[in-house]
Amino acid sequence: MLLQGKKLLITGVLTPQSLAYGIAEHALAQGAEILLTGFGRAKSLTERSAKRLKPGLEVLELDVTNPEHFTALTASLRQRWDRLDGVLHSIAYAPEDALGGNFLNTPWESAQTAFRISTFSLKELAVACMPLMTQGGSIVTLDFDNRVAWPIYDWMGVCKAALEATVRYLARDLGPKGIRVNALAAGPLATIAAKGIPGFKALEQGWGTQAPLGWSAKDSHDLVARTACAMLSDWLPSTTGEMIHVDGGYHAIGAPPVPPEAAAAPAQPGSKPAAE
Ligand SMILES: NC(=O)c1ccc[n+]([C@@H]2O[C@H](COP(=O)([O-])OP(=O)(O)OC[C@H]3O[C@@H](n4cnc5c(N)ncnc54)[C@H](O)[C@@H]3O)[C@@H](O)[C@H]2O)c1
Repeated sequence: MLLQGKKLLITGVLTPQSLAYGIAEHALAQGAEILLTGFGRAKSLTERSAKRLKPGLEVLELDVTNPEHFTALTASLRQRWDRLDGVLHSIAYAPEDALGGNFLNTPWESAQTAFRISTFSLKELAVACMPLMTQGGSIVTLDFDNRVAWPIYDWMGVCKAALEATVRYLARDLGPKGIRVNALAAGPLATIAAKGIPGFKALEQGWGTQAPLGWSAKDSHDLVARTACAMLSDWLPSTTGEMIHVDGGYHAIGAPPVPPEAAAAPAQPGSKPAAE
């Protein structure tokens, strides 16, 4: 099995729709031992999902805005395991006024909150887990490709671009310890976090048309989960600082396909003849 004997810490499981839930499910099926994290009032939702994944599966407390939780996390991991082989960072949040086309009016406090939770937390999590990753391993973060600006993503987009840079700097610093750090850039998927992004529906609708392999925001969770498990396994041993797309190929195509009737339409009067 792909992850036989691996010990993995998986953050970000909230509901069965969470991307991390599918990853946890596949990791268990592929032979991994896992621990989850949850936080605050939402921890009970994580505990409910944990029961569904595997009876007795433990959920450790981790609010990434609380530095003491990271210290406690290292201690809790040490109590349970002699080493850690992989970590999934699946955490993001931006206040409402940092999203949805409000870019020019977003106050610093909201941008700061989004950055701390969605970006800086990857560095904090890596530092907390590093002492246990004595045999190297893999850290994977979930990303939405932000090499370009999107209509609605605003300061979350800035945070994701910074997350991509954080991946490269962590790859630089953790590579000598044999730890790989990569981002998985997923296409849009229906989850609690996605519902909080105004205009998400519009983004989701065009995706399946442009992506050469197709894409469904309702049904493509499994594609992300399988790729994440491959990234957590030993089968990408020399890949680090990378962004791996799981988006049906959307990122590779400049525009949606031209419908056949438009392609066959005669040139408009006044338009230039095609170059020989
Ligand atoms: N859904 C999509 O379309 C999509 C696409 C690409 C990337 N992603 C990324 O996937 C990741 C998971 O999101 P999801 O879509 O599965 O949604 P989700 O709502 O299920 O997961 C978001 C997680 O962030 C956690 N979180 C928020 N604030 C936290 C804090 N202070 N401390 C600890 N945890 C905190 C929540 O508890 C939750 O588990 C995010 O990084 C998201 O940006 C999602």
